[in-house]
Amino acid sequence: MTAHLDGAPTVLDSARHHLVPGVAERHRIIGAGAVEATANGAEVLLSNGRKVLDFGSYAVPLFGHRPPAVVEAVHQALDEMPTSTRLLANPYAARIAARLVQALAPDRLTRVWLGLNGADAVEAALKLAIARTGHASVLAVEGGFHGKSMGALALTSDPERRKPVQGFLGDVRHLPLEPDAVARALTERPAAALVFEPVQGEGGGRILPPELLRRWSADARAAGAFVIADEIQCGLRRCGPMSVAVEAGLEPDAVLLGKPLGGGVMPLSAMVSTEALYAPLIADPYFHTATFGGHPASCAAGLAALDLLDTMGDLFAAHEAPLGQWLAALHEEFPDVVVETRAVGLFGVLQFATEAQAGLTILEAGRRGLLLAQCLTAPTVLRVLPPVVTTQNQMKSAAESLRAACQAVARRTSA
Ligand SMILES: Cc1ncc(COP(=O)(O)O)c(C=O)c1O
Repeated sequence: MTAHLDGAPTVLDSARHHLVPGVAERHRIIGAGAVEATANGAEVLLSNGRKVLDFGSYAVPLFGHRPPAVVEAVHQALDEMPTSTRLLANPYAARIAARLVQALAPDRLTRVWLGLNGADAVEAALKLAIARTGHASVLAVEGGFHGKSMGALALTSDPERRKPVQGFLGDVRHLPLEPDAVARALTERPAAALVFEPVQGEGGGRILPPELLRRWSADARAAGAFVIADEIQCGLRRCGPMSVAVEAGLEPDAVLLGKPLGGGVMPLSAMVSTEALYAPLIADPYFHTATFGGHPASCAAGLAALDLLDTMGDLFAAHEAPLGQWLAALHEEFPDVVVETRAVGLFGVLQFATEAQAGLTILEAGRRGLLLAQCLTAPTVLRVLPPVVTTQNQMKSAAESLRAACQAVARRTSA
């Protein structure tokens, strides 16, 4: 731990020269010249000894930083089986596959493909759906985010980031939130799949109405297109249930999971699917593989994370209402700055009047000891993502920091 407690200028300098300079500069400003040293629960310790609450982090530390049970499980896997031969059966991968099936819809979603980043799971689902149906066309949703690798980016609704590689992206139609959008698109030409986030994360924490998703899923299924729920950000209880789509009765052909699946410690993602969608992998076992898929330490972390989801149910429920009330109070007090708020589960959203106000709030909150996440494709929106282990005192302190940040932004932008 102390190895990182000095040398911040060297770290920042190396990052500026050898990593992405714009990101390095943002890190320097938010950390006020300090860098990450270690973290515990909802708190991150910086190299200058300062502590900040982490309500951002790309929605990964749902269980907080370094949850002891996950760290312990990873240590054990490293001692026992730090990598797998890929020629012999991997007990960790088999165990987590069985657990994921049990946790979602054991009578329908019976097959699992394991990756590391969320985009890996998106790519797997996309490829299987196209291979199985023979249709090189997919339906996605306006405002949706599915990652930045080429297939995932094709699904992502982000014109600015798609433009430089547009010619290489496949045929994806991004649908408006209209009831007959899927039926209409499918009469134009068939599609392999309909892919959506039940709650759009990077798109501004937008909740897609369950009745709309039911109609869309039925229309897609009737036309032979697979229904794929990307719950990489909203699933695993972040927005309440293990799977928002399964809970809403959408009967998806696949649920995609990632981010906190590795317990906030290891990279792990999964596509949990029906036999039908998985069929190309039954026909050709090596149709879609990756060297580190099913990594034992990642799977061990995932098994411990699934245990935590089973045992922490009450904690999740306890935070939900206070988060919504706390954010709503910010709208009441600063209506010209915070124009709308929402909270679903442990996913809170603050919509600002302008992108500049949202950006400024990140800086002002960071200065006061609270890290928040800006939505990638809806930059007027900030996500407030408390880890489930956040204590009441930490919640109170976060609320005070955010209130003071909004006040500062209101003063600075109303002049
Ligand atoms: C809904 C959703 N899908 C896919 C991804 C891509 O995940 P990753 O960045 O781990 O590849 C993200 C990342 O933010 C996401 O929010």
